[in-house]
Amino acid sequence: MKIFIDTADLNEIKWANDLGILDGVTTNPTLLYQAGGKDFEKHIKEICKICKGPVSAEVLSQNADEIVKEAEKISKWAKNVVIKVPITEEGLKAIRILEQKGIRTNATLCFSANQAILAAKAGASFVSPFIGRLDDRGERGMDLIAEIVKIYKNYNFKTQLIVASVRNVEHVRDAAKLGAPIATVPPKVLHELSKHDLTDIGIKRFMDDWEKLQK
Ligand code: E4P
Repeated sequence: MKIFIDTADLNEIKWANDLGILDGVTTNPTLLYQAGGKDFEKHIKEICKICKGPVSAEVLSQNADEIVKEAEKISKWAKNVVIKVPITEEGLKAIRILEQKGIRTNATLCFSANQAILAAKAGASFVSPFIGRLDDRGERGMDLIAEIVKIYKNYNFKTQLIVASVRNVEHVRDAAKLGAPIATVPPKVLHELSKHDLTDIGIKRFMDDWEKLQK
């Protein structure tokens, strides 16, 4: 399972990269706003230098021609940049054109299996179903992951599923149980993944007993 970090915070990206478990980064306009990334180009270039895996940067244009123009500009910023395009009819058109030009895309704001099918048909390199936002309104985001995993397997679609809008450690575990290839995890949840109270208690007991042995 690949782990991406879902943030534009440079310190958190450095931390996750140093941890040795980071496979990629996803950003969006909200995450850039939160990280103070006013200079979009500089910020994305900085992230791409830290993490050598795919780094998603989102377009703001809404029609296919404009999306393609914007994406072509962003794609020149770094070799590992991936263009995040919302799944709309115009977005799907743009995804097809971009992938044909060799520019990788991440079909984002996916909330249904049908949207994921169309993203794969358009040739998107990645698709990002937002499970937390479905949970937020009383639906079961993880059910969507199960559906997409199954459908992509049925048809041997090459698009890689990124479990997005992750809210807790259970989301990461459950996504892995379903065989989701990638989860993009916010820093808060990523920090929690290695922690267990019994690990801390165990370390303390070992240290205490070692001390006693020295007396
Ligand atoms: C995915 O690529 C998005 O950046 C992200 O997961 C959105 O998560 P949110 O619902 O917590 O904003």
